[in-house]
Amino acid sequence: MIKDIVIYPDKRLKTVSKEVVDFDESLHTLLDNMYDTMISKNGVGLAAIQIGVGLRAVIINIPLKDKEKGEDQPKDNTLEIINPVFIEEDGCSKYEEGCLSVPGYYEYIDRYKRVKIEYQDRNGVKHTIEDDDFLSIAIQHEIDHLNGRVFIEKLSILKRKKFEKEWKNRK
Ligand code: CO
Repeated sequence: MIKDIVIYPDKRLKTVSKEVVDFDESLHTLLDNMYDTMISKNGVGLAAIQIGVGLRAVIINIPLKDKEKGEDQPKDNTLEIINPVFIEEDGCSKYEEGCLSVPGYYEYIDRYKRVKIEYQDRNGVKHTIEDDDFLSIAIQHEIDHLNGRVFIEKLSILKRKKFEKEWKNRK
């Protein structure tokens, strides 16, 4: 089911989301709703709080690596990440980011180059994943949402001021 997206500066985006303890039907419905909502907006990632649910759950569309191109795109290429924890992070990168909660705004943001996280899937099974490309950036962006942070908070003071002015005046 497609849900409304919480739009900046809605205070709910400052919520520190809670650990998921029940890997039950209601979690699965939440993840399915997040998927429908993300796809409807052509997004590549979404945190539960962006549809108003303060649980540590995010989904990310996994980009295909070069070696996989030429094969059929898997139908459901979406990673479901519950209760993620960083176990390694290093390097630096700058990537242009956007966010469904800040529609139409894109800016280059400094992040770690490579991250490794531990997380659970929708059935509570533990996994680790690491990446040093787009997926790494998406993971960092989405985990920020779980901690009540939106990417524009990482802008320089000047860019942030310019953004806030433009955002207030937008139609
Ligand atoms: Co976002």
